Amino acid sequence: MAQLWGGRFTGKTDRTAYLFNASISFDQRLLEQDIRGSMAHAAMLARQGILTQEEGARISQGLNEIWEDTRQGKLTITDEYEDVHSFVEANLIARIGDTGKKLHTGRSRNDQVALDMRLYVREELRQVDDLLKTLLQTLLSMMEAHLDTYMPGFTHLQKAQPVTLAHHLGAYFEMLKRDRQRMRDIRQRMNFCPLGAGALAGTTYPLDREYTAQLLDFDGPTLNSMDSVSDRDYVIEFLAALSVVMMHLSRFGEEIILWNSNEYGFVELDDAYSTGSSIMPQKKNPDIAELVRGKTGRVYGALMSLLTTMKGIPLAYNKDMQEDKELTFDAIDTVKGCLTLFDGMLSTLRVHKDVMAKSAVKGFTNATDAADYLVGKGMPFRDAHRVIGELVLYCIGQGKGIEDCSLAELKAISPMFETDLYEAVSLKACVDRRLTVGAPGRKAMEDVLALYREYLRSE
Ligand code: ARG
Repeated sequence: MAQLWGGRFTGKTDRTAYLFNASISFDQRLLEQDIRGSMAHAAMLARQGILTQEEGARISQGLNEIWEDTRQGKLTITDEYEDVHSFVEANLIARIGDTGKKLHTGRSRNDQVALDMRLYVREELRQVDDLLKTLLQTLLSMMEAHLDTYMPGFTHLQKAQPVTLAHHLGAYFEMLKRDRQRMRDIRQRMNFCPLGAGALAGTTYPLDREYTAQLLDFDGPTLNSMDSVSDRDYVIEFLAALSVVMMHLSRFGEEIILWNSNEYGFVELDDAYSTGSSIMPQKKNPDIAELVRGKTGRVYGALMSLLTTMKGIPLAYNKDMQEDKELTFDAIDTVKGCLTLFDGMLSTLRVHKDVMAKSAVKGFTNATDAADYLVGKGMPFRDAHRVIGELVLYCIGQGKGIEDCSLAELKAISPMFETDLYEAVSLKACVDRRLTVGAPGRKAMEDVLALYREYLRSE
């Protein structure tokens, strides 16, 4: 057991208690951040004359070697170390001797771990943002290809009005665009450096916190040492933003599952993103989409878990906070995996345009347009709504659509119907006349696509 403490103890830690307390099995993921932070700290100590330049350089070189050796597998992280911080410090001392013992001057593991976690989350915010951008690019190309792919739009899962696949996908484009904004917002709020906060009350050494903040690409140092070591808001915000990403992917996954079902038949998943059944030879199941939907619970769980862990903790650092790591790491891995798979699943998806279009004309999706037609002839909308309601009732009885009625049948319901009704309620007209900003009409969609293209170019 390599521990950073022990002078005050006469007895040994119980083995089970040691393992219960240890975090090395999971916080070794922070090795890179821990070494980077230590290098910045050592450089600052040397600059301030707290260490000599030579000591600073030896520490820096030792840390570098530890990083290289671990990466190349020459040095392995074992559970003989309590945590990643002990691993680095013990190995530094083993390598460079007594100078290594000076690294922890003016520092505590409390500000150290707060820094490591911030550096880690900051990098992951960027990586998640990149994956979101990739998925947005895939969505944009699909939208460009499906401006004329008509499909029913639903409310209450009942056919409502026709839209296009491009328009439907555009809703997810908006969601994922907001997800990217959330990543950026979080970064802005969290990008301050806690290093130098010490255990909780700063330190008597003349540390230059501005300098370490600058070395580590922060916008400045944090302003309260107690908050610095006990703040995990940014982890919670990240988990909340990841939960929203998963909620979006889960909704999207659910739609793909529906569309891919035998009943809908709107799309077909590629073999690469489907699985079979061990008993039913005919099956091709949308397991990937289902798993994305299912894993959403796991990411929400991480958010609830950390919120609950944090709620009763008095200031400042308490060991409860070590619980911020495993679930966060798991949530990040889960979301990144889901984003990557979703991208593959979407780019290989086959779209059955004909099935979608056929479905879009059935179910009176043009009833609103028929009412609007009568409004165009001078009837107030509320009256038109009632007349078309009667027409729909008649059509249901006859087992046909509005467009299948003869002019005589139409005129029996209202003399205001003329032959131009047929064009007005055609699928193409129903979609393309919807030209308000954000609507599915081709011209309106093209305007939005131009904005999306520009957005992906510039951000
Ligand atoms: N493993 C600890 C954590 O993840 C590091 C900080 C330990 N600090 C302490 N005072 N025991 O939170």
